[in-house]
Amino acid sequence: MTDDTGTNVTTSNDERTHAEELAIVLNGLRRPVKRIATKYHYDEHGSRLFEQITELDEYYLTRTERALLERWMPAWVADLEPRTLVELGAGSAEKSRIILDAMVSAGCGEAYVPVDVSADFLGKTTDTLRAEYPGLEIVPEVADIKEPLDLVIGLPHPRWVAFLGSTLGNFDGVEASRLLGRIAARLHDGDRFLLGVDLRPGPKKSIERVEAAYNDPKGVTQRFSLNILAVVNHEFGSDFDLDRFVHRSRYNVAEGRIETELVSLTNQVVHFPGDHRIVLQKGEPIRTEISSKYDRTTIDGLFEGAGLVVDRWIEDDEGLYALVLSGPAA
Ligand code: SAH
Ligand code: AVI
Repeated sequence: MTDDTGTNVTTSNDERTHAEELAIVLNGLRRPVKRIATKYHYDEHGSRLFEQITELDEYYLTRTERALLERWMPAWVADLEPRTLVELGAGSAEKSRIILDAMVSAGCGEAYVPVDVSADFLGKTTDTLRAEYPGLEIVPEVADIKEPLDLVIGLPHPRWVAFLGSTLGNFDGVEASRLLGRIAARLHDGDRFLLGVDLRPGPKKSIERVEAAYNDPKGVTQRFSLNILAVVNHEFGSDFDLDRFVHRSRYNVAEGRIETELVSLTNQVVHFPGDHRIVLQKGEPIRTEISSKYDRTTIDGLFEGAGLVVDRWIEDDEGLYALVLSGPAA
């Protein structure tokens, strides 16, 4: 497959038909609490809006993770000498460059495999990286990482699989356990899994701070949220009216997560081709995203079930965010 920039990209999932995807979307919208899969946020416009979110003062996640990577990657990479970096949900790979630079400096870097569901965006990221890192083999993979992956046979070990940005938090418990299990099953001796996670509110981190990150006053997050409806309209021919919904993100203490919904401002009917109708009441939400927050106990539990063992855990001084390096359980 070739994307619109001419870059060759491979698809490593068994692809679903459009009709099957539509059936899944309609099923989600017919549940007692309506939902749309988070991956539909990320067309090219949505990916750009996410990039804008990462620059907001309120959105502490990206800059805190970047600082932790800058502080720790040179030493960790020099110590463990990964030859291949596989990155799930790579996006613009902006922070990945910190790891790639460390690999190049340590003289061990040979290949980088950015994996993402957003094909156009991945193509552009790949073009830029190939120009920046002529000595690295860059092997992009378009894939839905919630599905079984058939990744990169043949690239050298030791490999690191990175999953940054706290994107794991956008997966529910079952999806997260499944993904971690699949990652663990692919790690060889000496390979590592590098995870970035946003931490739960605690003594140093208030719930207000977490909620502010998802409710910026400039409305960038609201535009990112509403874009999911535009993507569904474009992909499936529905007629969601974006002006008839409002974004709402609240922290659910019991679940340890931000829950983001688009709330219907009116009683309305949304139409899909094939005479499918979705009825919404005024005030009714559509769940578009969860952003789970973690602590050491929740990560240990998830990792134990998946067959991963934590090697190194580091946090910033404000207890906002953690980087976790793990390996396969013996
Ligand atoms: N890793 C980057 C980007 C995070 S945004 C960072 O830390 O800033 C989340 C990324 O995951 C987006 O690029 C999005 O396209 C991708 N993504 C979301 N759901 C996905 C899925 N199911 N499969 C593959 N990629 C996905
Ligand atoms: C990509 N992901 C981890 C972001 C998050 O924090 O859940 C997406 C996002 N949604 C709203 N703001 C940012």
